[in-house]
Formats: sequence, structure tokens, C-alpha cells
Amino acid sequence: MSVHKIEDQRKVTTHRLMEMKQRGEKISMLTAYDYSMATILDQAGVDVLLIGDSASNVICGNTTTLPITLDEMIFLAKGVMKAAKRSLVVCDMPFGTYQGNSLEALASAIRIMKESGVDCIKMEGGEEVIDSIKRIISAGIPVMGHLGLMPQSINKYGTYAVRAKEEEEANKLIEDAKLLEQAGCFAIVLEKIPAELATRVAQSVEIPIIGIGAGGGVDGQVLVMQDMLGITKGFSPRFLRRYADLNTVITEAVQNYISDVKSCDFPSEKEQY
Ligand code: KIV
Repeated sequence: MSVHKIEDQRKVTTHRLMEMKQRGEKISMLTAYDYSMATILDQAGVDVLLIGDSASNVICGNTTTLPITLDEMIFLAKGVMKAAKRSLVVCDMPFGTYQGNSLEALASAIRIMKESGVDCIKMEGGEEVIDSIKRIISAGIPVMGHLGLMPQSINKYGTYAVRAKEEEEANKLIEDAKLLEQAGCFAIVLEKIPAELATRVAQSVEIPIIGIGAGGGVDGQVLVMQDMLGITKGFSPRFLRRYADLNTVITEAVQNYISDVKSCDFPSEKEQY
């Protein structure tokens, strides 16, 4: 596996993502939820860091993304933002903070921008939330859309299975992607849909399409950091490639530490004052 070297150290902006799509350079995006990990990811050269509402699962231990609050998202985003020198930082709008009406949505987006300092926000949905998206963008806040499997709607779907396999849902998704582009979104995440459909969407709009479980015909890829580093166990959808087995690395390190403490091997004379 070849190691990526960052050639361009400039801060990634929404405009630079568009330029990347135009010249055919794929966009790399990962989730991040804290200062220490975000420092590593930013220095490794990932283009976009997402404080995903998947924090509800991987940080807070909930079974869905629904319970995480605006205050909790802002708390996490503040840490990531302090770490990110080069990556563009996007924060998810959590469930219940934008579905009511566009004024409520704008107030939530302003809180995220003011209190965490992130570069932009992400929202799930197409036509249903288009008024909110327009109002937020008109206030000068860049918005990334999210279509396909939208985990905040899990109670409507009843399953995390692949979305838009049927023609009706696929057509709505294409229309929604065009609506999001017209409304001014700077990029769209497509989650867990057939690769052929995702490729069609990427070819139908000029803004970058970033996929998760959406195949290789899109403009970039995003994964949940804990999944791709092998920290989470028991979650292995087909689209997930694991780049490390940190669960084993961390477990062995912690077990070695426990042994050393119990056997009085740690701390040694050199490790004391
Ligand atoms: O919350 C999240 O981690 C996400 C990604 C799956 C795109 O929205």
C-alpha cells in the first residue's frame, strides 16, 4: 500500500473540493470526534473531517444517531476544530434541530458555527428540508447534503439496508441531489445506495459527491474512523475496509500495562522522581 504525501498544505475549502472534482482528484473524508485523533487525521492529510452524529453510536454508546444533542455535538466539534489546521471541518446537525422549520434550523446552524468555529454543517434530507437549507446558506453558512440511507430516519425505514434499489426511490434521490445543488449545497454525501445510481448522481451534478457504501464512481469517500481503524467490533458491512486492527493493538497494550502494574514492573526506577 503506497503512503499518501500531502503536496498542498493550504487549508481545504469548499471551493477547493469543487476544484478537486473538476480535475478528477478524489476527496478523502473521515469522521473525527476529539482533539487527539483529529490532530493525527489532519496531519495525515485527510481532506475533510466530519464530526458525524455517528458520535451518538461510537462516542456515546447509543444504538441510533437520534439521541445526540446540539450541545454534545458542539462540545465534540470544538475539540476537532482546535486540531484541524488543513482539513475542512464539517459538523452534522443532529436529529430534531432542523426538521421543525427553517428558522429553527438556522438557529441551530448558527449555534454550531458560532460556538464551535467549524467551517460548515451537514444535514440529512432532500426536498423535505430544502427551505431550511436555503435559509442557512443565505446566512452565509456552507451546507453539505446527505441522501440515500439517512440514519436519522431509521425509525421510518426499520432497517439499515441499502436504499434506493427501487426506481421510485432512485428517481427521487436524483431529483433531491439536483435540488440540493440548486439550493447551493457545496457537496453531498450518498450513503449505502447502489454504485450505479451513485455514479449517475455524480455525473448529473457539478458539486462533489462523497460516498459511503456508494461505490467508486463518485468524487470521494467517507468512513467512520472507528470502523476503518478496527476499533469497533462486530460491524462489518460489505463497504467497510479495515486499515488497522486497533481493537487488538489497544487490548494487548492495556493487558501488558495491567500485568506490569500487578507485577510491580511498572513504574521502574527510571520512571519515577
Ligand atoms: O454521522 C456520520 O458519521 C455520517 C457519515 C456516515 C457520513 O454521516
